[in-house]
Amino acid sequence: MTDDDRDHRERGKRGRGPALSRRSLIAGVAGAAGLGVGATAIARSADSAGASVHGGDVIEFYGEHQAGVTTPPTAHVNYIGFDLAADSERQAREALAGILRVWTEDAARLTRGAPALADSEPELARVPARLTVTVGLGPGSFTRTGLEGRRPRWLHPLPAYPIDRLDERRWPQTDLLLQICSDDPITVAHATRVLTSNVAGRIRLRWVQRGFRNARGSQDEKVTMRNLMGQVDGTVNLGPGDFDTLVWDDGGEQPWFAGGTSMVLRRIAMDLDRWQELDPASQELTVGRRLSDGAPLSGGGEHDDPDFDKLVDGLPAIPASSHIARARHRTPAEQFLRRGYNYDDPPEPGPDGVLPISNSGLLFAAYQRDVDTQFAPVQARLAEHDALNEWTTPIGSGVYAILPGARRGQALGQSLLA
Ligand code: HEM
Repeated sequence: MTDDDRDHRERGKRGRGPALSRRSLIAGVAGAAGLGVGATAIARSADSAGASVHGGDVIEFYGEHQAGVTTPPTAHVNYIGFDLAADSERQAREALAGILRVWTEDAARLTRGAPALADSEPELARVPARLTVTVGLGPGSFTRTGLEGRRPRWLHPLPAYPIDRLDERRWPQTDLLLQICSDDPITVAHATRVLTSNVAGRIRLRWVQRGFRNARGSQDEKVTMRNLMGQVDGTVNLGPGDFDTLVWDDGGEQPWFAGGTSMVLRRIAMDLDRWQELDPASQELTVGRRLSDGAPLSGGGEHDDPDFDKLVDGLPAIPASSHIARARHRTPAEQFLRRGYNYDDPPEPGPDGVLPISNSGLLFAAYQRDVDTQFAPVQARLAEHDALNEWTTPIGSGVYAILPGARRGQALGQSLLA
């Protein structure tokens, strides 16, 4: 343990509980010597792996925009929803300011591989593995704090769609959102624990949604991920040339929000048992793309444009009801950045006490300047009709204002609270 670690450990644990005696600990850990041997072995194998070790990779926290939106998606994510625990407007506003100060300070440290200010496990902070911490505010952060006049126009619940089966008790819209991404799930767990416990008195935790993509290094970074239905997912997406026009806010409506964006988070359950009964050709017609490589059914490779007019035996190669035909933007404005993750949680017993085979789906995350004009028309079209709807069900939904980035020495949300 370094002096720095010891310092953080002391601060993190100070006054939290009774100290254990050395004797009782020694008696309880027969075989601890074996742990030491294991740790050495791990360190050595990492050394010999050389260039393939990514734990030290850092994504800069400070900047005009928050990281975690247009930065490359990492292997793991936790989305965490909180409500403000305060009675009066004044208390809620003070709590919000305090939370944002703590999160800024802690996130700036953790993302560069340093322990947070009160970090009870500082050893776990040393492997950032591209850790990003992204903070979003739900409508309640404005209405409950007297900041209604500064709420972005589009920050309101989405319309109720006929496909929705939202479980408002389990996955409600929340006042605050943390998005924690890293290639190492231990880092995600540690950052989640630290950022949550350091503001524990001021928030009520509502949910944690855990997601994953391919493990880093399991395939080339340029390969598009697959979702748990087996499809190549994420082929058509915005690129760096689109971010300033379609993702980042320019402060035109709410000057304090320049550099921010919006996020829609939809928890979409997949009925994999029924999907698996469908033959592969029908599965492909449902999406409009080939399962093997994600190419459009009109031909070509994954990144070739789909030809929605092409006929095969007199019928459209890509059915008009397929997911890509329905989801495709009708105007340039109807575009957004998709950056979703899979989820595969332990099955939960149904009313009859029986466990289903799986509890899987997509944590669909979309980022755009304006939810109402970019995201909502596409979602409305899919809700009206999309062949995929037969096997997918939205069960959670939230809209968040992703705060502008913090400059060094500033706190997130400073322009809002000024
Ligand atoms: C579990 C739910 C969903 C699954 C399994 C799914 C899967 C896919 C797949 C496999 C593709 C084709 C590859 C690609 O371009 O990424 C795709 C494309 C797309 N999806 Fe989804 N998707 C889901 C939900 C949604 C939702 C909720 C929206 C928006 C409201 C959406 C919007 C899009 C868009 C805009 C495209 C690109 C269409 C194009 O221009 O070709 N998807 N999706």
